[in-house]
Amino acid sequence: MVEQVTSKFATVRILESARDASGYAAEEIIAKAGPGMRFGVATGSTPLWVYEYLREAHRQWRFTLSNATAWALDEYVGLPADHPEGYRNVLLKELVEGDATGLHAEQLHTPEGSSPDPEAAARNYDAALAGGADLQILGLGSNGHIGFNEPEGSFESRTRVEQLTPQTRNDNARFFGDDVSAVPERCITQGIANIMSAGHIVLLAFGEQKAEAVVALLEGPQTAEWPATVLHDHPSVSVYLDAAAASLLSTDYGRS
Ligand code: GLP
Repeated sequence: MVEQVTSKFATVRILESARDASGYAAEEIIAKAGPGMRFGVATGSTPLWVYEYLREAHRQWRFTLSNATAWALDEYVGLPADHPEGYRNVLLKELVEGDATGLHAEQLHTPEGSSPDPEAAARNYDAALAGGADLQILGLGSNGHIGFNEPEGSFESRTRVEQLTPQTRNDNARFFGDDVSAVPERCITQGIANIMSAGHIVLLAFGEQKAEAVVALLEGPQTAEWPATVLHDHPSVSVYLDAAAASLLSTDYGRS
């Protein structure tokens, strides 16, 4: 593994496996974590190994979120509050239950997707989040979305209710028994402007289904067609990829 400085991002690290890439990402998070940190957390399958590493580091007394707060990127609208695929419940399971990372449920902030007034819930979340996370974990949609900010949206967007694209609902059907009709049609998502206000961003992308979006992110121009390219303007981004996600890049970015 070799660290390579690129023109767009401070760090791009490509590892053979997603598990190894997650280990490096987790070590960066552990090194940067501190008391009072506002920790921006992603959902989906991508960050799960990072969370596993963070739980292990907590068991080893090397890492704690006991004095931190955690802030979700997004939440489905309309799922019952106890639905296991609701992002609050996923994050409770990954980071809170069983003293997993020291984070308590009241320190975990998520948009209230089951609210009868989701627009108000989005506004409340935006106000509470205010200046953004200190450290933000990001996944990448196969269409280049970050959070649930789908292609062609404004780079100035803030937390709001959004429609999910058919591609994203298809991508996420695997969490709902492969039944696309069970995937909610709407979500509350942090906007691009919220994400851009994070102090540091750790972006992860794994698997060949992300390869095209990774090329757009690392080698393409900035465009709303690929929302993640807004990160070209962020001063502090680390990108962690596995070999499959990196497979369409024109160079190996120093991968050993
Ligand atoms: C999901 C989430 C994003 C996530 C992305 C990738 O729909 N809203 O926050 O980063 O899409 O998902 P996955 O990690 O499952 O591939």
